[in-house]
Amino acid sequence: MALLPNPFRALVIGSSGTIGAAFVELLKNNPSCSELVEVHRHSEFPMNYENLESIKSCAAALIPTGPFQLIINTIGVLHTSKWMPEKRLDDLNAEQLEELMKINAIGPALTIRYFSQLLDPNNSIMLTLSAKVGSIEDNRLGGWFSYRASKAALNMLLKTAAIEWARTKPNTALIAMHPGTVNSRLSKPFRGEQIGRPAKDAVTDMFRVIENLKKEDSGSFISYSGEKLPW
Ligand SMILES: NC(=O)c1ccc[n+]([C@@H]2O[C@H](COP(=O)([O-])OP(=O)(O)OC[C@H]3O[C@@H](n4cnc5c(N)ncnc54)[C@H](OP(=O)(O)O)[C@@H]3O)[C@@H](O)[C@H]2O)c1
Repeated sequence: MALLPNPFRALVIGSSGTIGAAFVELLKNNPSCSELVEVHRHSEFPMNYENLESIKSCAAALIPTGPFQLIINTIGVLHTSKWMPEKRLDDLNAEQLEELMKINAIGPALTIRYFSQLLDPNNSIMLTLSAKVGSIEDNRLGGWFSYRASKAALNMLLKTAAIEWARTKPNTALIAMHPGTVNSRLSKPFRGEQIGRPAKDAVTDMFRVIENLKKEDSGSFISYSGEKLPW
């Protein structure tokens, strides 16, 4: 049985980003979505992964607004003003690796931890955007060390939490989702405008998958098309 009830209450984390904003737009236009809360670095209760304490305080501030049946976390970085993805092993450096681990793995994992209290125990979905390039098995091209490693770490942290939730939150699906290549700030330096899809199309596809998620899907790495991806 599909987990997402009708009506449902949704929380979008990272709603200032391209895919996050497109999810907000889609949910605003969905009559089944009865309540929509947005979180980002400058929202009323801000969350900034440069300050990991903000995750706990943001979650605590939102408790009176919950519970939510759908929580989507879209926060992630591929490049920053300081770093571009590594092309070769000689580009690998501790500072970049630490930074991406913090934003792409540690922040999202702590978000799973602290926002779990905001989930409806009867039926809910928590989705974190990962990336297919974080798949160890699918890695054929190499490069992008920090981004790949941070998304692989995120996948492991999420999978481990999902195993625990099968016991403690049996009616919640915890999912790592690959949005496909999307035209966004993140993909722009990598021909994102040419090879990426509009965010609207990506979130429409992802929401179709979300609507059909079952509790048995928890702990999966799923593509926007519904395909299960190798870890
Ligand atoms: N675009 C693609 O082709 C693609 C492919 C595979 C996976 N993904 C994944 O999809 C997700 C969304 O990407 P996007 O394309 O929408 O990128 P985007 O437009 O650059 O959005 C990134 C989001 O992350 C937030 N963020 C970055 N650093 C943060 C920090 N320190 N604290 C809190 N928030 C922070 C940004 O907030 P600000 O607005 O404040 O900067 C923004 O909301 C990411 O997890 C990405 O890895 C994207």
